[in-house]
Amino acid sequence: MNALDFLANRYNDSLQELTTFLAIPSVSTDVASANDVSRCAVWLADHIRHTGFPDVRIIETAGHPIVYAEDLSAGPEKPTVLFYGHYDVQPVDPLHLWTNPPFEPTIRDGKVFARGATDDKGQVFLHIKALEALRATTGSLPLNVKLLIEGEEEIGSPNLAPFVENNATMLQCDAIVVSDTPMMAPGIPSLVYGLRGLAYLQIDVTGPNRDLHSGSYGGAVNNPLNALAHIIAQLKDEHGRIRIPGFYDDVLELSLVEREELAALGYDDTVLMNDVGTTSLFGEQGYTTPERLWARPTLDVNGLLGGFTGEGAKTVLPSKAMAKISMRLVPHQRTADIAAKFQAYVETLVPPGITVTVRDLHGADPVLVPRDTPAMHAAVRALEATFGQTCRFTREGGSIPVVLLFDTVLKSPTVLMGFGLNNENAHSPDEHFSLENFRHGMDAAVRFYQDFGTITP
Ligand code: BES
Ligand code: MN
Ligand code: MN
Repeated sequence: MNALDFLANRYNDSLQELTTFLAIPSVSTDVASANDVSRCAVWLADHIRHTGFPDVRIIETAGHPIVYAEDLSAGPEKPTVLFYGHYDVQPVDPLHLWTNPPFEPTIRDGKVFARGATDDKGQVFLHIKALEALRATTGSLPLNVKLLIEGEEEIGSPNLAPFVENNATMLQCDAIVVSDTPMMAPGIPSLVYGLRGLAYLQIDVTGPNRDLHSGSYGGAVNNPLNALAHIIAQLKDEHGRIRIPGFYDDVLELSLVEREELAALGYDDTVLMNDVGTTSLFGEQGYTTPERLWARPTLDVNGLLGGFTGEGAKTVLPSKAMAKISMRLVPHQRTADIAAKFQAYVETLVPPGITVTVRDLHGADPVLVPRDTPAMHAAVRALEATFGQTCRFTREGGSIPVVLLFDTVLKSPTVLMGFGLNNENAHSPDEHFSLENFRHGMDAAVRFYQDFGTITP
């Protein structure tokens, strides 16, 4: 039996196992979930061991553990691939908007619904199943494999980054494979060659030492919510351009060739408008939607807190206000540099009588991965053979913190071969993963490892 038949025969078991993985609430942001995150690492390590990996380790960090496994029995004449993914998931709130509880995986309409289904447990698991099928049907793997699956991606990989830097020799490889991105559209295989970065900051604003009667004090004492609104209003102009001095200094402009290539993808604005339920799109002038989403930086308020928000009216001049603000970055911006520029600019906007503290919560550097590499070509062949359609090249607006680091520290090319879809509600209620893409993903991964295994390292 070949590996593809093995996967087809064992499909129901694989799906069952995936639901067990999805049922573990490995929410990395939530300190109360730390035991569940560890339990998830143990389950995953055990499962990987059970598929035949000879060396599987749970590596403790200052935060959540890393699951690492390797099988180097193919030998030095075969290439080595490093698979990277994450087993941690985002928080579930708002819980009441889920059709089924987020950690009781449910299969409906050809999809599996659960937190982490598409981001990233489903996509991690399909690789483990593909490698299991290769080993079970041939007795060995067609190449050397290292698995690096972390539990802190959703909080910015604070401990994985130093781990990669300190273990560059152990992680040495000919290519890195990541499945943590969406495909362009259902049935259309695509490879992502660019990710945006992220700078995420919190602004805490304090005015008077306590909440005040707005009649007795309003007009004489500055209001931290008004001050915060003023600060936020200065961050972006009405055309969507960010006003932080030096913000655009390192932005790599799109070349004409790339603009033509992105235009040829036939991105349809109305699909996006219908998907999110809006009648008009908004963004920086002079760029198309895919350009703005994938290759232009942006700034968004993620949350605001302050003052009286209960039923009816209460006349109060609040003491405190808070905002969480993120900026998506593009090559060659750097998250640390942008965070510093943001902080310096906000400090110039603080009105009298108000104190502001700006905290850098986390971030990720943007990255472009090379397209003309043996691993990329193998991925194109694997996807085209599986989906029966030509493979497209896209960029994405989301961020994966360690991908640039792989490039600079490991000096190996990354392939971003994702099987998610944009409307699978990653980070939202009713997150799900297409079972067709789960199946196709397993097949494509088998083909990729077989194909890449034939190259000379
Ligand atoms: N899988 C996503 C990254 C992603 C999302 C890539 C959409 C392409 C398209 C990842 O798990 C994620 O959510 N990353 C965070 C990064 C962060 C917490 C530092 C993000 O992009 O917000
Ligand atoms: Mn992810
Ligand atoms: Mn995510």
